[in-house]
Amino acid sequence: MSKNCAVILAGGEGTRMHSQKPKVMAELLFKPMIDHVLAAANKAGIADICVVTGYQASILEQHLAGRAHTVRQNERLGTGHAVMQAAEYLRTNDFDNVLILNGDAPFMDSETISEALAYHLNRSFVQTVISARIEDPYGYGRIVRDFNGDFCAIVEEASADKETKKINEINSGAMWFKKDALLELLSKITNNNSKGEYYLTDTVSIAVSEKKRVGAYTAKNADAVLGANTRVQLAELNERLRHKILNRLMLAGVSIPCTDGVIIDDDAEISADTVILPGTIIKTGCVIGANCTIGPNTVLYKTTVGNGSTLNQVQAEQAAVGDNANLGPFVHLRPNTVIGNAVHCGNFVEVKNSTVGDHTSVSHLTYVGDSDVGKGVNFGCGVVTVNFNGKTKNRCVIGDDAFIGCNTNLIAPVKVGDRAYTAAGSTVTEDVPDDALAIARSRQTTKAGWVIKRKPYREKKY
Ligand code: UD1
Ligand code: CA
Repeated sequence: MSKNCAVILAGGEGTRMHSQKPKVMAELLFKPMIDHVLAAANKAGIADICVVTGYQASILEQHLAGRAHTVRQNERLGTGHAVMQAAEYLRTNDFDNVLILNGDAPFMDSETISEALAYHLNRSFVQTVISARIEDPYGYGRIVRDFNGDFCAIVEEASADKETKKINEINSGAMWFKKDALLELLSKITNNNSKGEYYLTDTVSIAVSEKKRVGAYTAKNADAVLGANTRVQLAELNERLRHKILNRLMLAGVSIPCTDGVIIDDDAEISADTVILPGTIIKTGCVIGANCTIGPNTVLYKTTVGNGSTLNQVQAEQAAVGDNANLGPFVHLRPNTVIGNAVHCGNFVEVKNSTVGDHTSVSHLTYVGDSDVGKGVNFGCGVVTVNFNGKTKNRCVIGDDAFIGCNTNLIAPVKVGDRAYTAAGSTVTEDVPDDALAIARSRQTTKAGWVIKRKPYREKKY
């Protein structure tokens, strides 16, 4: 087996993005473009990766720490110059072949990379360019073939004549090289062109002039070459990827009757017969069972949901929801929340760092924070677990089948026993034993005839 590495070019500023960040940090479905490229290389079995950084290099270095080696290109003198910055890395490591990837082409996929490598190795080429035939080749380097149909050069848009501009087979920017040949070719490219840049693409004509074997592998997936230079193009890529993921889920049995505003991360696992409604955003790390209804307008992040649950207008992050739960509308689940089976959380309920047992009902206007709530508990309207005293957070414990009256404040740390009740409007500061009723409010006084005696008349408004 050959030992291979990848060099990802990511030094460009991406002027047309108008951003303070490196262009490759622009996000495609919540993930920077560079991460998509890195994932494709990793998935193709390439573990050794060197990223060439330049504009705002430290942002990329931090982002990639531990995942890729980085080298800096201090001046942006072209793609050939960018690869030269990796020469030391290539020389000092034992590699047979080198894959060059553009950091701003996030649709490059592992199949295309692997197929191109097989093509490269089978034909003993020194260089294999991944090409594609696309409808509008404007802006791309064109794949030029001689009268025998043999690949002989890449001509950049700026240098192309009228006939060359008509060629619709283009350079994806991704290419395989034999390592030794790459290092030799790099030393021979010049900046004699209209832009005064060192073009990596010039390596093709140099290799051909030296009678070296080069080839172009045409990607089956033409989308693999698409890149984004502007945020308009980035939005187009987002749309393509978004629909690709939604289509895959639908074909696997997930219903998405209207895809408006539905954005789902590629890593989401969703079982059949679940329905996703408009405005639902499912970010990384979510697993959703079967027969659920998620949405409308629900945002999930690192959250798991069991089977048969309904989440209507829910925002959840790092939470777990059981089976047959009914959440919403307007429910917020914050990190470390575990919601049991058949739990109901209704409008304007927030749960944080708490467990809520099976069959518990928290129907309206309630905050459950830092609490362990048992099974079959009923919360009246407007209950607050008072978990913060200004200095420390404390926990509340509520036993099975307890009944928490409306507008109860549970001042943590406090424990309400199994089957215990709290009277509406109570501010509970002491533990309530099992089966007890706690009334923690002053008794009502009613003063008969007080208005007639005191005459606190107000001007009549109607
Ligand atoms: C490049 C190719 C073109 C190909 C196209 C595919 C060259 C000369 N042209 O053109 O044939 O069709 O990609 O998308 O190679 N970069 C650096 N340092 C530099 C210049 C660029 O790191 O000095 C990086 C950029 O960040 C980017 C990648 O190299 O990720 C490609 O550079 P870009 O300027 O976008 O090249 P294109 O004009 O798109
Ligand atoms: Ca580009």
